[in-house]
Amino acid sequence: MSSQDKIKQLIELRDKAKMGGGEQRIESQHQKGKYTARERIEILLDEGSFEEYDMFVTHRCHDFGLENQEYLADGVITGHGTIDGRVVYVFSQDFTVFGGSLSETFAQKICKIMDQAMKVGAPVIGINDSGGARIQEGVRSLAGYAEIFERNILASGVIPQISAVFGPCAGGAVYSPALTDFIVMSENTSYMFVTGPKVTQTVTGERISTEDLGGAEVHASRSGVAHFVAENEEEGLLLIRKLLSYLPQNNLEEPPVSNIKDPIDRIEDSLNDIVPEDPNKPYDILDVVHLLVDEGEFLEIQCKFARNIITGFAKMGGIPVGIVANQPNFLAGVLDISASRKAARFVRFCDAFNIPLFTLVDVPGFLPGSAQEYGGIIVHGAKLLFAYGEATVPKVTVILRKSYGGAHDVMSSKQLRGDINYAWPSAEIAVMGPRGAIEILEGKKMSEIENPDELQKFIKNKEDEYREKFANPYQAARYGYIDDVIEPRNTRFRVIRAFKTLATKKDILPPKKHSNIPL
Ligand code: HXC
Repeated sequence: MSSQDKIKQLIELRDKAKMGGGEQRIESQHQKGKYTARERIEILLDEGSFEEYDMFVTHRCHDFGLENQEYLADGVITGHGTIDGRVVYVFSQDFTVFGGSLSETFAQKICKIMDQAMKVGAPVIGINDSGGARIQEGVRSLAGYAEIFERNILASGVIPQISAVFGPCAGGAVYSPALTDFIVMSENTSYMFVTGPKVTQTVTGERISTEDLGGAEVHASRSGVAHFVAENEEEGLLLIRKLLSYLPQNNLEEPPVSNIKDPIDRIEDSLNDIVPEDPNKPYDILDVVHLLVDEGEFLEIQCKFARNIITGFAKMGGIPVGIVANQPNFLAGVLDISASRKAARFVRFCDAFNIPLFTLVDVPGFLPGSAQEYGGIIVHGAKLLFAYGEATVPKVTVILRKSYGGAHDVMSSKQLRGDINYAWPSAEIAVMGPRGAIEILEGKKMSEIENPDELQKFIKNKEDEYREKFANPYQAARYGYIDDVIEPRNTRFRVIRAFKTLATKKDILPPKKHSNIPL
């Protein structure tokens, strides 16, 4: 073969590989409103930056007639490229080849880029669209999944791992995305479950649709499995680009600081009366967040799940920060099982990747009741407590209004190694709210008062007395548990200055194999 023919052969092979499972299957993919594996990579990465590996890999299965069906790349496109000029590794499952199902060689391709990403110290983005284990390969496919799982585990806390789920994701295959840091799903075209609707019906008798069992909406709002839901794949891929702009490449790097136009000393007068006078009146904590962060830009995570707490990324003075804030607009911002789990995982992610934590507190306490107790609120609440207490990144906290009971301790209090803890003058820091306290302290006297008007007057007087004494920030400030009481309108400046001061903070944990967070 002449050298010209050899080059021609290479080009032909490349063209063949790029056709995946063939024109018809590509067409069918498009008809479902889905992009192909390669198109997704094009959208995700900087133009022209993709470097593909293992394009000529084929499976090694000789059963069930598979020996006569070979596709170059074997159903997964792997390689690296850049996002905003920073290196990322990527794999993208190709549904047009055996339904994107995972073979031994398919798994090896993914493992190869994961291993290299670990050596280089760069994030891995996995785009999932697969019928699961390639049935014809049996246990080799299962072993392939386990190889990936192990790498997901070892990479956890070392490099950011992001999963897009843009199609089916069933059986044990869901566990690779579940082991990663963030899951992005696409509306109407993706689903995740351990057991599909058919088996569910056979085993339990429950009849349920694919969408209702494991669609994007379900995982966004009920299970909390999905961190983001995009209207379509393009939006999902752009969201991953955005997400990475807040993250370092690995756990040894600092997150990327950007130049900002938003003045760090921007005074926000409207913050001075954003908290309603009536302590029981709700307000939207997102309004506060938007006023404080650079350009009002906040990337909220799990925005439909456990809405009583919000988590997400923003920049303050150009520094990426992880924000955790109680949301008085939903269940009065109470801490419950879901909110504790959601925030704990977020705090741990930020701590693993050197992202400072900014906590905004307005919490009436933990949600009481048998449902919460039977569900294990003790252990789940402890997760958040543990996560904050263990975190060594800079921690700046502002108490806006209520900070009651155990929830006060949990929400990045001074004693959990909070670095700088501010309170607004509207802060109420106490063991519990005035009404609950009066019921306990004055219950006997209250039961002796028969006249309802007199009772109300008594309660009001006692509540006023209690509020005067405890429902303010000055008791806590007197003990140094609060570093300063600040004017709300100055919060942006004070918090950014705090983070700038803490930039060189060093804190350590005692030597150990690993902690035993209450799971
Ligand atoms: C081999 C598969 C496959 C699989 C799909 N295909 N899944 N080939 N192994 N697991 C092939 C089909 O034969 C078909 O080939 C092509 O992919 C497209 O599949 P369709 O069924 O035509 O597509 P669609 O109607 O869109 O349905 C997609 C689907 C369905 C819902 C994913 O294919 C399906 O239910 N597949 C099986 C899912 C499953 O149970 N997997 C095992 C899960 S357990 P042709 O040649 O016709 O195009 C598991 C264990 C992991 O994964 C364990 C890890 C620990």
